[in-house]
Amino acid sequence: MTDRHIELNRRALLAAGSMAALGAAAPGALAAPASATVRFPKGFRWGASTAGHQIEGNNVNSDLWFMETVKPQTFDDPSGDTCDSYHRWREDIAIMKAIGLNAYRFSIEWARIEPIRGQFSLAEIDHYKRFIAALREAGIEPVVTFYHVAAPRWFAEAGGWLNPESPDLFANYCDRAMRLLGAEIGVACTINEPQVGLTYRVMPQSGAYFDKEDEKQTAAHAAAAKATGRDRFVTMNHPDIKGMTPQLMAAHEKAFAAIKAVRGDLPTGVTLNLVDFEGANEGSRHMDLRKAAYGGWLEVVKRAGDFVGVQTYRQIRIPGSGAKLPDFEAMPYVDPAHMEEMIKQPTALRNTVEYVYEQTGKPIFVTENGLETEDDRRREWYIPQVLKHLHEAIAKGVPVMGYMHWSLIDNFEWLRGYKPRFGLASVDRQTFARTLKPSAAVYRKIIRNNAVS
Ligand code: BGC
Repeated sequence: MTDRHIELNRRALLAAGSMAALGAAAPGALAAPASATVRFPKGFRWGASTAGHQIEGNNVNSDLWFMETVKPQTFDDPSGDTCDSYHRWREDIAIMKAIGLNAYRFSIEWARIEPIRGQFSLAEIDHYKRFIAALREAGIEPVVTFYHVAAPRWFAEAGGWLNPESPDLFANYCDRAMRLLGAEIGVACTINEPQVGLTYRVMPQSGAYFDKEDEKQTAAHAAAAKATGRDRFVTMNHPDIKGMTPQLMAAHEKAFAAIKAVRGDLPTGVTLNLVDFEGANEGSRHMDLRKAAYGGWLEVVKRAGDFVGVQTYRQIRIPGSGAKLPDFEAMPYVDPAHMEEMIKQPTALRNTVEYVYEQTGKPIFVTENGLETEDDRRREWYIPQVLKHLHEAIAKGVPVMGYMHWSLIDNFEWLRGYKPRFGLASVDRQTFARTLKPSAAVYRKIIRNNAVS
């Protein structure tokens, strides 16, 4: 979802001839790779991330499953079977073991656990319990997200996050889920990227894209409301993210309290999509943009959160009126004129990690970071680079709990369907067979050594 936004924004921007504003890299100006070996703290969590709707398949009671059927259609593909991880989770664990992960972030699906309002499925809870137990047996710490984009269909029919009751509905589900399966969880994440729609909408480059996208989403949501005979049908892709934000904030705070009431010892936080806004020129107001894009959430996490989940994929340069600042660093296998790719800078993660720590003083957990590419050589290069930069933040004293690479396997990338590839392993779309990519071996070596050289 987010990638599509940014890529379309980027295209619009390039078409508008604003390339200079993005900063073009000088050909051949490759960043000199740091040669020294950097060691990570003892007990560092090395993991990978996924989300239920993106890998499990057949999340039939969810709001998105329904949205994937309405006309006008906003998804490039329906999610369908995805990677069939609902049945093939043992194969996923085998992949994790082959890479040597000691943690795994995934989401439990609200639509499975509470398919009808107030009716909780013990069988589905047991499914997740079996999975969590198997992870523990494999020496892998379960990092559990309670809500990752998809909600139950009944929740959307009741107005989704625009419904004033939504924080209580969510907290009630978290309380139930925690009581039934919370004992073996290692880390809890309440809501995934509750501000992603806000962040992308405040980017000056996004205006034209969202004018069109919001029109499409409004029509699709109206069609879903009509088809279900409701006044409204509201999913996370609904354009009124401003209207949803107060409820999302209250939902996080209430869920945090509910989870901690069951297990006070469980590290619990929210995971945020943090674009690294930087200046393209002197005098750029990129710091104001950071505040507008996610500042409100950084206040919330100060009140409710044991850590902040940082999820960074890109660096966006914001024009100012003064002298031009240094361009993006060149990257191997990337055409420096290809701005959609150049923004995937490995320094972006370090910058947001440092910023969020400065702003909040909370421990940081990199709950997502990765690279969308069909060329795995780029991922082989990217992983050690991004980790060396992350280590710079750790060396400066930022407490970082771990790094979860997005993603374990290629999966359903929301509105953009199955085309984007983020995985350390590919998945055959007919047989569901998982195959490790060469980048998985690069990651494995880092994990084994707890160091990057
Ligand atoms: C989301 C994931 C998504 C990833 C790559 C994050 O914003 O949490 O669900 O697949 O980015 O676009």
